[in-house]
Amino acid sequence: MSDSTLNAPDTATTDAETTDAAPALRGPLGFGDRVQLTGPKGRLNTITLVPSGEFHSHKGMIKHEEIVGLPDASVVVNNTGEEYLAMRPLLSDFVMSMPRGAAIVYPKDAAQILSLADIFPGARVVEAGVGSGALSLHLLRGIGATGRLFSFERREEFADVARANAAAFTGAAPENWTVTVGDLQETLPSSCEAGSIDRVVLDMLAPWECVDVAADALAPGGVLICYVATVTQLSRTAEEIRRSGLFTHPQSSETMVRGWHVEGLAVRPDHRMVAHTGFLITARRLAPDTKLPSLKRRASKSEFSDADMGTWLPDLAGDEAAAEHTWTPEAVGQWSKSDKILRKKAREATKLAEQRGALPSEPDAQA
Ligand SMILES: C[S@@+](CC[C@H](N)C(=O)[O-])C[C@H]1O[C@@H](n2cnc3c(N)ncnc32)[C@H](O)[C@@H]1O
Repeated sequence: MSDSTLNAPDTATTDAETTDAAPALRGPLGFGDRVQLTGPKGRLNTITLVPSGEFHSHKGMIKHEEIVGLPDASVVVNNTGEEYLAMRPLLSDFVMSMPRGAAIVYPKDAAQILSLADIFPGARVVEAGVGSGALSLHLLRGIGATGRLFSFERREEFADVARANAAAFTGAAPENWTVTVGDLQETLPSSCEAGSIDRVVLDMLAPWECVDVAADALAPGGVLICYVATVTQLSRTAEEIRRSGLFTHPQSSETMVRGWHVEGLAVRPDHRMVAHTGFLITARRLAPDTKLPSLKRRASKSEFSDADMGTWLPDLAGDEAAAEHTWTPEAVGQWSKSDKILRKKAREATKLAEQRGALPSEPDAQA
C-alpha cells in the first residue's frame, strides 16, 4: 500500500498490516503512530508505523521497528546511510496530506475560524458541510473532550472520507462528534434543540440558504461564521444575514499568510504563496424580538434596490430560474470529483484509519 505524501514523494511502502495501538500525541514514537519522514532533499513522506512495515525510497529502506522507541523529532538512517528526520505530523500537516474528497479549509483559515467564532472548550458547535473533515478536526481540538460537534453533510461519500480521516488522526471515532447525512436546512431542526447551539460554522456553496435554520439553532449571542470562496457568495451571504434581521451586522475578512525566507543576509518574502482560499463572514445571533439599532453611517435602503442587486445576485431580483442556474459549484469555480474518485478517497481514508487500529479492518475482498 502507499501512504499519503506531500511534495514530490519518494515511495513509502509497507505490508498491508494494521496495529491495535492508538496513536500518541507525545512521548517516544510507537506502532500505530503517523510519522513524517523528511529526506535529504526536504521531501516529506508520511507513514503509519506497523510491526513488519518498511519505508522504501529509491535511495534505500528503513524498517519501521527502527523508528519505534525513538523520541519524536529524531534522525533515522536508512540501509544506504541516508538520513531522515522522523516527526509526528502536526494537525496542520495531517490535514494537508490526508485523503480529500472536497476542497479543505486550509490551516490558516481554520485558525481564524477558531478565533473569530470564539470556539471554546465545552462549546456546542454545528458545522456543515463536512467535506473531507479538515475543519471538523480543528473544531474538535477547539471544543475539547467536554464539547459537542454536530456535523452535517449532504453527501454520504464525503461523510465517509471525513469520518475515516478523523478516526485516523485521533485513533478512534470521536465520541463527542456526530455526522448527520442530509441537507443542513432539513436535518438541523430535528437534530438540535432550538437555541441550544453556541456556534454555527458553514462551509458550503450557498450558506445563505441556511441562515434561518442557523438562527433557530443558535443561543442568543451565539456566533454564525461562514467560509466562502468568491465575493459573489460573500455578498449574497451578507445580504441574507442582514435581511433576516436576526443577527448583528456581518463582518467580513480574508486572511493572507506570506511565508518568509530567513537565512543569513537573504531575508525576504517567499517567491510563492497561496494567494487566495476564501472569505470569512461573521455575525452574532440577536436575542428574540430584538431589533438591531440602525447604524447612521450605513447605506440607506433606497440607495440600492433588489433590482439593482439582481445584476450581481440574480435570485434577489426574484428570478428563481436564473438563480438555480447561477449558484452551481461550476459557476463559482469549484471543481467536483466524480463518484468513482470519491469512493477511492473513502477507501484510502478508511485504510489509513484501519492501520491505526481506529476502525475494524475490512476483510480482504479476494479472501
Ligand atoms: C468545501 S466542502 C467542505 C470542506 C470541509 N469544511 C473541510 O475542511 O474538509 C463543502 C461541503 O458542503 C456540502 N454541502 C453543501 N451544501 C450543503 C448543505 N446545504 N447541507 C449539508 N452539506 C452541504 C458539500 O457536499 C461539500 O461536501
